[in-house]
Amino acid sequence: MNKVVLAYSGGLDTSVAVAWLRDQYGVEVVTLTVDLGGGSLREGIERRAMSAGASRAYVVDARETFVSQYVWRALQAGALYEGAYPLATALARPLLAQLLVELAQKEGADAVAHGCTGKGNDQVRFDVAVHALDPGLQVIAPMRVGMGLTREQTVDFANERGIEIPVTREAPWSIDVNLWGRSCETGPLEDPWATPPEDAYAWTVKAADAPDPVEVVIGFEGGIPVSADGEYLPGVAMVERLHELGAAHGVGRIDHVEDRLVGIKSREIYEAPAAVILHAAHHALEGLVLSREQLRFNRVVGDEIARLIYDGLWFSALSRDLRTYTMSAQRVVSGEVRMRLDHGRAYVVGRRSPLSLYDKDLATYDEGDAFDHAAAVGFIEIFGLPLRVEAARHGAVGRHHGAAWTWTNPLLDTLPVTVAEAAVAG
Ligand code: ARG
Repeated sequence: MNKVVLAYSGGLDTSVAVAWLRDQYGVEVVTLTVDLGGGSLREGIERRAMSAGASRAYVVDARETFVSQYVWRALQAGALYEGAYPLATALARPLLAQLLVELAQKEGADAVAHGCTGKGNDQVRFDVAVHALDPGLQVIAPMRVGMGLTREQTVDFANERGIEIPVTREAPWSIDVNLWGRSCETGPLEDPWATPPEDAYAWTVKAADAPDPVEVVIGFEGGIPVSADGEYLPGVAMVERLHELGAAHGVGRIDHVEDRLVGIKSREIYEAPAAVILHAAHHALEGLVLSREQLRFNRVVGDEIARLIYDGLWFSALSRDLRTYTMSAQRVVSGEVRMRLDHGRAYVVGRRSPLSLYDKDLATYDEGDAFDHAAAVGFIEIFGLPLRVEAARHGAVGRHHGAAWTWTNPLLDTLPVTVAEAAVAG
């Protein structure tokens, strides 16, 4: 082995990893830092990589690609892991892995490396994605194979080697950020009963401190958000706009005990203002323009896509094919949704679309009702047929077998009942 491409965040651990990889394997280390927005690109990153002993430090701005190829795909699918987590960290991994592989090939490296520990999901996502794209590359995770230093040891190591380390206050959290969300875990959060300390949050204000509610109208085309209050916005700007609005109104805090791929339950605090607003808006628009059958099936597909993203299987055939389904199913998801941001919550307060399936004449209880009430009788006759047959054939089974409780047990005699009677004249 003579050259390794390291996914470099510029934090303490990956900085020390540069030197550690050189010592341990006698290799040349090239670093790759990917700007995914949300503050993921730290200042002076190239200088720090060099001070740690990197021979070359690449920085790639992948923000637009991240939004258009990953974030929007997840949004269109309504992908929320366990119904809660908008997958910011998970979505970034396949993109990082692809860039690592491409750079390794360009640099003629034999291996790629990342700073994940041996306990989380991210190691799985990196390793699996890298090997899907280039099975010939070795993957090294220094933290997993012996670098395992305590924080003090890491700081000492860095100081001895003259490695520039970021001057941050020692945070008790493990944090990952990109424009779609901020993930925060460990420290005081490890007690799932403990209220998250206020400083676990860095993006959003406390709901109680939010200003007066505001409304924002989000325009979608084909399931992709394209405008805010009528102003056309490209992907990154769109996310940033809603991020700012949402964060200022305390929207986007998620407190989730989630099931990691490696079998552990883990308590996570997420901040994802744009994701929370957009998922709610997108869901509302789908409700207007898609059929009941599509909505039901999309839930199944969305949950499956969320699981595939979470599990690091973005490059699997199933994952690709389900994304193809989603793109096709989203072709009519165009229109506008009015959202109200109100002290920590994002409410849907209106939706409209030229492709709406909502028909006022059919829905109304007022004049102009076009729905055929009389036809409902025939419909119910046929719709209820299987249930009537079932009740006739099986309905009394419990009673025959003397079961203690069946749905045929009489209720009326067991409930408090009051009766008013009309006076009988005469
Ligand atoms: N639990 C989330 C996930 O698996 C977030 C992980 C955050 N990573 C981190 N290094 N703090 O996607």
